[in-house]
This record gives sequence, structure tokens and C-alpha cells, in this order.
Amino acid sequence: MTEWITGTIRAKREWSEGLFSLEFDAPLADFTAGQFVRVGLEVDGEKIGRPYSLVNPPHDNRHEIHFNVVSEGTLSPPLGDLMPGDSLLVDPRPNGFFTLDQVPDGRRLWMIATGTAIGPYISILKEGLKEGKVWERFDEVYLIHGVRLERHLSYGEAIATAQAAQPDRFRFLPLVSREKSDSALPGRVTDAIDNGLLEQRLKTRLDPELDRVMLCGNMGMIRDVTALLGDKGFSKHRKSSPGQIITEKYH
Ligand SMILES: Cc1cc2nc3c(=O)[nH]c(=O)nc-3n(C[C@H](O)[C@H](O)[C@H](O)COP(=O)(O)OP(=O)(O)OC[C@H]3O[C@@H](n4cnc5c(N)ncnc54)[C@H](O)[C@@H]3O)c2cc1C
Ligand SMILES: NC(=O)c1ccc[n+]([C@@H]2O[C@H](COP(=O)([O-])OP(=O)(O)OC[C@H]3O[C@@H](n4cnc5c(N)ncnc54)[C@H](OP(=O)(O)O)[C@@H]3O)[C@@H](O)[C@H]2O)c1
Repeated sequence: MTEWITGTIRAKREWSEGLFSLEFDAPLADFTAGQFVRVGLEVDGEKIGRPYSLVNPPHDNRHEIHFNVVSEGTLSPPLGDLMPGDSLLVDPRPNGFFTLDQVPDGRRLWMIATGTAIGPYISILKEGLKEGKVWERFDEVYLIHGVRLERHLSYGEAIATAQAAQPDRFRFLPLVSREKSDSALPGRVTDAIDNGLLEQRLKTRLDPELDRVMLCGNMGMIRDVTALLGDKGFSKHRKSSPGQIITEKYH
């Protein structure tokens, strides 16, 4: 049974229609960048909760989630209607295994997201721009964000800040699949792996000896990228059979 506490919305940002970030105040237990928190509302007299990745880094208690409204969904439509000052339910114990300590040692980290799944990577990057855990563990970090429309490319300022702090060690590659974009690669991340564009842009080759990969977002992307990387010698990392890939499935 979830033991809910009440949080208060501190700020709201609408990136584009149906795409939001909410900042809220609530006394959460300590967490690790990449973990999620269960957030809820009372819908038709029933407490409905869903997991959302924390976007803020652990040292910042301005808790933040990033989500899109699923029109046929139960929680996300009323969550998108909340305004500063409103209350929401929060499970005070963050949870999850999509964290850097679950990633085996390597030289380069590829953080791949679709849609709102950029959130946990922002938390990881904000943990330390110059000396955070990610910079202690990896020489280079590549953030790859695949979205349908250019206006879904959220957290541009946080990404630009990370780029400015680590100009030689951090690269960001956006992809837009459903319209032409001057600033992003076309298509899906799977296309860009398959046709070599991703490696070409990063001037590197995916190498299971050197590279570690985090995949977060929709189930299809995780399945298809895992299969493509499998052809290059990568596999899911498990305690019983070490590999290079860790995943977090949103839907
Ligand atoms: C570990 C974990 C972390 C998550 N973190 C986030 C997060 O940071 N941001 C975020 O936006 N979502 C996140 N999700 C998804 C989120 O928990 C909800 O499932 C989502 O907001 C939809 O909830 P709902 O009640 O509106 O829809 P539901 O009533 O739960 O579902 C309706 C249908 O929509 C599908 N669905 C769920 N999410 C999406 C989506 N984004 N797009 C399209 N279809 C979807 C479901 O599979 C289902 O078929 C996470 C899920 C998990 C398991
Ligand atoms: N995320 C948002 O910003 C946002 C905002 C408002 C509303 N919504 C609604 O939320 C729902 C989900 O939207 P979403 O954009 O988050 O969803 P999504 O379906 O996860 O799409 C995000 C990106 O992932 C790509 N993708 C899908 N399957 C893939 C696969 N197997 N391998 C590699 N890449 C894959 C998509 O490419 P394709 O385009 O080729 O499918 C798209 O570029 C939709 O109903 C949408 O209208 C989303």
C-alpha cells in the first residue's frame, strides 16, 4: 500500500500543448539521480498513482517531474490541469534502478531517450556540471533525444548549460521524426544507428568494449535499439551476465 503524503505545486511549465513540467514541494526521502517518484491524485473518489522520473538532482529539493498528457489516460490529464498552489499526492520514497551505479564501468556513456524520458538524464547532468558522478565515471557523455515534433525538444537550457560546462566531453544529438527540422537529425534513433548517421555525427564507432548505453522511453525504442546494438556485440547488463545496456520502460 502506498502511504501518500501531500505535496504542493510550486511552478508549472508548458513546453508545448500537452507537454508539462511540474515543480512541487514535498519532503521526499533521499534519492539517486535517475530514480522515479510515484505521484497521484484522487480521480473519481479513488487515489490513482503513477511513477514519474525526478528531473531535479538529489541536492535540489525543488522536486520536478516532466510528462505529457495521454489523452485516454487516467492520471496524466488531471495532472496536466494542476496549477501552482494546488495539491498532489506523493509517495515520499523515490525508487528505481535506472541510475549510474547500475551502469558498468566504461569510457563513454550514451544516454538515449524518447519523449519525456529525457527527465532522468537531466537529473544526472544537473548532479554536477563539472565534477558530478557522471564525469567521474565516464570520459565522454552523449545525450540523444528522439521526439515526434521539434517543439517536444524540452530542457534545451539545461542541455546548453551542460554543453558549456563540458564542451569537449558532452555532445547532444536531437532527432525529430515527424517534421523537417533544421536543428535535429531526421527520423528515429533506430534509423540513425542503422544508417550510421549517429556514429558519423559523433565521429565515433559504437564499441561494446568502450561504450555503455542507457535507454529510457517507449517500449518499442528500447526493444529495437537493444536489437540493433545486439548486432554490434552489446547486451543487456545483468548481475548474472554482465553487458553494456540498462533500460527504463515508460510505456
Ligand atoms: C518507471 C517509470 C517512470 C516513468 N516516468 C515517466 C516520466 O517521467 N514522464 C512521463 O511522461 N511518463 C512517465 N512514465 C509513464 C507514467 O507513469 C504514466 O504511465 C503516464 O503518465 C500515463 O498515465 P495515465 O494514467 O494518464 O495513463 P494510463 O491510464 O496509465 O494509460 C493509458 C495508456 O497510455 C499508455 N501510455 C502511458 N504513458 C504513455 C505515454 N507517455 N505516451 C503514450 N502512451 C502512454 C499506457 O501504456 C496505456 O496503454 C513512467 C513509467 C514508469 C514505469
Ligand atoms: N512527448 C511529447 O512531447 C508529447 C506532447 C503532447 C502529447 N503527446 C502525446 O503523447 C503520446 C506519446 O507521444 P511521444 O511523442 O512521447 O511518443 P513516442 O511514440 O514515444 O515518440 C517519441 C519518439 O520515439 C520514436 N519512436 C517510436 N517508436 C520507436 C521505436 N520502435 N524505435 C525508435 N524510436 C521510436 C517516435 O518516432 P515516430 O514518430 O516515427 O513514431 C518519436 O520520434 C502521443 O499520443 C502524443 O500525441 C506527446
